[in-house]
Amino acid sequence: MNGIVVTGGAGFIGGNFVLHWLGQGLGPLVNLDKLTYAGNLQTLASVQDNPGYTFVHGDICDAELVAKVFAEHKPRAIVHFAAESHVDRSILGPEAFLKTNIDGTFTLLQAARNYMATLSEEDQKNFRFLAVSTDEVYGTLEPNDPAFSETTPYAPNSPYAASKAASDMLVRAWFHTYKLPVLTTNCSNNYGPYHFPEKLIPLMITHALAGKPLPIYGDGLQVRDWLYVIDHCKAIAAVLEKGTPGETYNVGGNNQRTNKEVVHTLCALLDELVPDSPYKPHAQLITSVKDRPGHDRRYAIDATKIEREIGWKPEETFETGLRKTVEWYLANKEWVEGVTSGSYQQWMSANYSHRTGAAAEKAGAVK
Ligand code: NAD
Ligand code: DAU
Repeated sequence: MNGIVVTGGAGFIGGNFVLHWLGQGLGPLVNLDKLTYAGNLQTLASVQDNPGYTFVHGDICDAELVAKVFAEHKPRAIVHFAAESHVDRSILGPEAFLKTNIDGTFTLLQAARNYMATLSEEDQKNFRFLAVSTDEVYGTLEPNDPAFSETTPYAPNSPYAASKAASDMLVRAWFHTYKLPVLTTNCSNNYGPYHFPEKLIPLMITHALAGKPLPIYGDGLQVRDWLYVIDHCKAIAAVLEKGTPGETYNVGGNNQRTNKEVVHTLCALLDELVPDSPYKPHAQLITSVKDRPGHDRRYAIDATKIEREIGWKPEETFETGLRKTVEWYLANKEWVEGVTSGSYQQWMSANYSHRTGAAAEKAGAVK
């Protein structure tokens, strides 16, 4: 019982976590992933021959498969990342979000309960189920509101956030009712290597490098609290070892920025790092487009509990993390090319064509 099972380890955060865990020699790891559009085995190419790594291609909603994976690999912990994670996709097609984020979590919780019952008393004591959640479950903040703490009431506003809130409620209930030793982490917006370019930061980097418009929703004054993904991976590993079952821990980067600030900072970095770019200054590519429906205005995380109780705090500032991120995208164009063909193009058209042009202007887009 020295290994762990990770779900969604071929995605952005899960992939970084798998690389971090194996890179630090923290023990064997099994990665259960369905390989949706967001899952990419290229991210894990460097560990595919690592004897401590096993990949299982499958769905977390498949109860039989999940039970088999737990029984075969006898993990000491489950770290649950797998989810549909993109707010805009949840607006255009919520069904998959309810399926994976609610049914999937339910299936895993039941399987974990059944598996735990087969363990010795000692192994039961050490077993953990860690659910990776989001600050979006807390809703939205006004400019001067205090940051979200672990006791902020849930008030999800998007189908994605509602599905994650439901997942968190199931996790909570399995602790209270069945004594499953769960841990929940609620983190802010991650950024860093291997981030799928449908999300703000990688989308802006890849578009700027290609000379494409940089679409800012609405007035661009929405605030997010940016967390470098490796800092997040370290937080999860620390909570797994030191967290108290039944507790939740907020994880944030202490980096509140408006979307406009983020995009301008990225453009300036690209001007510096790609001095011969034909698109310089990259800020000329910024375009204001129709806003996201129900767009949350501000997220901010109060991460004092995890610092006080677990001893974790972020190591990267936004400036150091963003520079590392841009440098990674410049050095890994093949990875980007691998994920931006086919269905990605269909998504770009589905999400952006109605935001620009005459139809969007009529619907209130800012020019
Ligand atoms: P992602 O979309 O990049 O990756 C999701 C992964 O889950 C993919 O590999 C996908 O193939 C897999 N997956 C999806 N449905 C599955 C299913 N039914 N069965 C098995 N695998 C499935 O997501 P991410 O950004 O890495 O987010 C990971 C977790 O962290 C999610 O739970 C998300 O809600 C949470 N989170 C993300 C952020 C962020 O900024 N990205 C912030 C807070 C919380
Ligand atoms: O806060 C945590 C959440 O962060 C996670 O739970 C989600 O899984 C993750 O996707 C992320 O959600 P956001 O909606 O905050 O991230 P996104 O990158 O989609 O958008 C960040 C901000 O940028 C948001 O205010 C919308 C805006 N935006 C986004 C895109 C894709 C734009 O202005 N233009 C864009 O093209």
